[in-house]
Amino acid sequence: MAQTPAAAPTAAQLDAVKSSVRKLLHQPDYDDGSAGPVLVRLAWHAAGTYCAETNTGGSNGAGMRYEAEGGDPANAGLQHARAFLEPVKAAHPWITYADLWTLAAVTAIEEMGGPAIHWAGDRTDFTDESKVPPRGRLPDGAQGAEHLRFIFYRMGFSDQEIVALSGAHNLGRCHGDRSGFEGKWVNNPTRFSNQYFKLLLANDWKKKTLESGVEQFVFVDEDLAAEGEEEGGEKAAELMMLPTDMSLLSDKAFRPWVERYAQDKDLFFEHFAKVFAKLLELGIKRDANGNVVNEENVEEGYKSAPKKSDSAQAPGDQNKGQIGHEADPLKKDNEKFQRRKSGAKL
Ligand code: HEM
Repeated sequence: MAQTPAAAPTAAQLDAVKSSVRKLLHQPDYDDGSAGPVLVRLAWHAAGTYCAETNTGGSNGAGMRYEAEGGDPANAGLQHARAFLEPVKAAHPWITYADLWTLAAVTAIEEMGGPAIHWAGDRTDFTDESKVPPRGRLPDGAQGAEHLRFIFYRMGFSDQEIVALSGAHNLGRCHGDRSGFEGKWVNNPTRFSNQYFKLLLANDWKKKTLESGVEQFVFVDEDLAAEGEEEGGEKAAELMMLPTDMSLLSDKAFRPWVERYAQDKDLFFEHFAKVFAKLLELGIKRDANGNVVNEENVEEGYKSAPKKSDSAQAPGDQNKGQIGHEADPLKKDNEKFQRRKSGAKL
């Protein structure tokens, strides 16, 4: 029997979701005090699996709920973002995870001082993992410009768009236990701006090999290091860049965009808003009325996956591969991180 698709959410319902997201952004015990950056990364990794040639992957389906995608090492740490959003899902059970993850990111960016980004809903949640994209489609920070082109051209982005998207590294940080890289790109990683581009150009970035053997680039602000002596000293004042970030400087076609975005914040905001909206639409087919006409949406309608459990449960209690009981152990990880950040040797 054909299912009647659920009615599209009203503007008032969506505003209520955005308001719930805004309320959870302030997380004093997490990282730099905000859930915003990791929410942005969740939406990017949900969409960034898209392949234009085969028309697979992309932001429909919320495949990271399944181990095949959620357990990809490239997605390590994003369970924090998913767990942060569980109370929002509980308060608004009608919304699909695929819509919630993308809407949370645009809400977070705006709330952190970034541009307003056009967002359209109607994504559905996959009912099984058969359409989850293969692993290995997300970029590797240890590589260079050629790799970036390989990854982002596959999604249909241009050189200019690659540079604009990379400006998201103005937010958040790298975690040794997630990606192997460590540190933040800018001093205020919860405020969206074009500081990332300014610092890329202005600082004398030096290669550093971490104890783990991972190579990244660092810059230590001497004044800040002296000031911050009590709060972790040099470590607290150290900023970082990934090898891929550095390739934006050394590549002939990327560099002019780094220079323009460093000089002109408004231009960066305008281009970022456009390209982030494009990112969130990857893998989504719409008709003239804006309704999503992907096969699974037409067949199943606006199918919102049931909310996952918040409480700690033994593995296997939930649908296979569903993540929902992770918040508790992660909280402990993060307490350790907080103590390390303030200078404790753990
Ligand atoms: C250009 C290729 C890219 C590479 C190689 C890359 C790599 C990385 C790595 C290694 C991390 C650290 C993860 C961790 O240890 O927690 C990270 C974090 C982050 N990335 Fe990217 N990324 C890229 C593009 C993007 C794009 C396109 C966006 C969004 C538009 C983005 C947004 C973020 C954010 C917001 C964080 C911080 C997350 C947090 O604080 O937990 N990145 N990225």
